[in-house]
Amino acid sequence: MYNFNFCCPTRVIFGKGAIEELPKYIDRNKKVLMIYGGGSIKRNGVYERVKKALEGYNLSEFGGIEPNPKCETCMQAVELIRREGVEFLLAVGGGSTLDGTKFIAAAAKYEGENPYDDIMIKGIEVKDALPLADVITLPATGSEMNDGAVISRIATSEKLPFHSEKVFPQFSIIDPETTFSLPARQTINGIVDTFVHVMEQYCTFDVNAPLQDDWALGILRTLIKEAPKVLSNPADYDARANIFWCATCGLNNWISQGVPQDWATHMIGHELTAFYGIDHAQSLAIVQPRLLKNQKVSKAKKLAKLAREVFGYNEVVDLKAADLAIDAIEKFYNSIGMKTRLADYEIDSSEAAEKIRERFKLRDVHLGEKGTVNADTAYDILKAC
Ligand code: NZQ
Ligand code: ZN
Repeated sequence: MYNFNFCCPTRVIFGKGAIEELPKYIDRNKKVLMIYGGGSIKRNGVYERVKKALEGYNLSEFGGIEPNPKCETCMQAVELIRREGVEFLLAVGGGSTLDGTKFIAAAAKYEGENPYDDIMIKGIEVKDALPLADVITLPATGSEMNDGAVISRIATSEKLPFHSEKVFPQFSIIDPETTFSLPARQTINGIVDTFVHVMEQYCTFDVNAPLQDDWALGILRTLIKEAPKVLSNPADYDARANIFWCATCGLNNWISQGVPQDWATHMIGHELTAFYGIDHAQSLAIVQPRLLKNQKVSKAKKLAKLAREVFGYNEVVDLKAADLAIDAIEKFYNSIGMKTRLADYEIDSSEAAEKIRERFKLRDVHLGEKGTVNADTAYDILKAC
């Protein structure tokens, strides 16, 4: 196992009625800005619950953070924060709202002219950020318990991640009942995103870390078992709760301590979203099976373990078992209603492959746990999608 240094300072308040505990964790003397998305929280009662819980607070609002949050929208919130002297941010909604809030928190304290260029592109370290917390309503990103955010810039068709300890949520409220109102498409997206997060951290090469492997495979088994339950009965509280905790643990960086990580599927997927606007999880479901085929030899041992311990195959030859695992993943996605081909979204694979190869060449990317996925590899993978 590799050395590691782990800290997650986020308190998690999980379960029915968790929203009503908000006042215990936010200072009444602070000026609070509640940040939300396109209005789902107004339709499912979460907005009213938060407002009621925060009665008596000096509370402003900023709505309109879109899926794949845009830098352009976030900067409007930064202006409001500076104008009104906001001291604490509360994101209420999905991963996009929370990611947007993380960027807003960093940008509000940033002194340079152009935080997107500096933080996302040049990778300049975030030295300060406004304190933030969240009521998360969509199990998918794990953003509620990590220090990352992914922000798009429409002007340049870019979608890039950043990480900073300064943007860990102080606390995250997870009430699985808030997810009863999710459209099936978002429930499916969340399940697939979580599955891929776990794979990005598990499916590399073996460094003798069996506990991390078992945790990772445990999340995958739970997802496969609970997914049909939430899809057939959206108000199944126990299944919703289990799926949510899978999503949070899928990317709170617990399973990745001491092991190599991949993330090539995500980096290629982000480009598909940036160029074609497809949902984050849709992009992953397209790329991942082809990427795993492309990298099969290098990942054979982990894929074979997945085939045997999650999908129940007895195949003893690793490379054959690896093929079975990749096919089983794609079958699982299809079985819950997730499409896995570019053609399903009327995207031409040659065009996408060419565009993304160009961009990766310019950036000189070397992705994956061994840095072997370069612009040409990404081209081959996308051509096969
Ligand atoms: O905007 P509103 O009206 O709130 O509606 C949202 C949105 O339309 C809706 N929704 C959310 N909760 C709901 C609900 N509808 C009904 N009931 C609820 N309880 O769902 C739609 C999608 O929301 P969004 O926040 O975009 O989805 P998700 O949580 O999947 O976030 C996706 C974003 O997270 C990034 C992705 O790239 C993408 O931009 N990621 C962030 C990561 C991180 N911070 O660590 C890691 C991930 O790999 C991912 O890249
Ligand atoms: Zn993801």
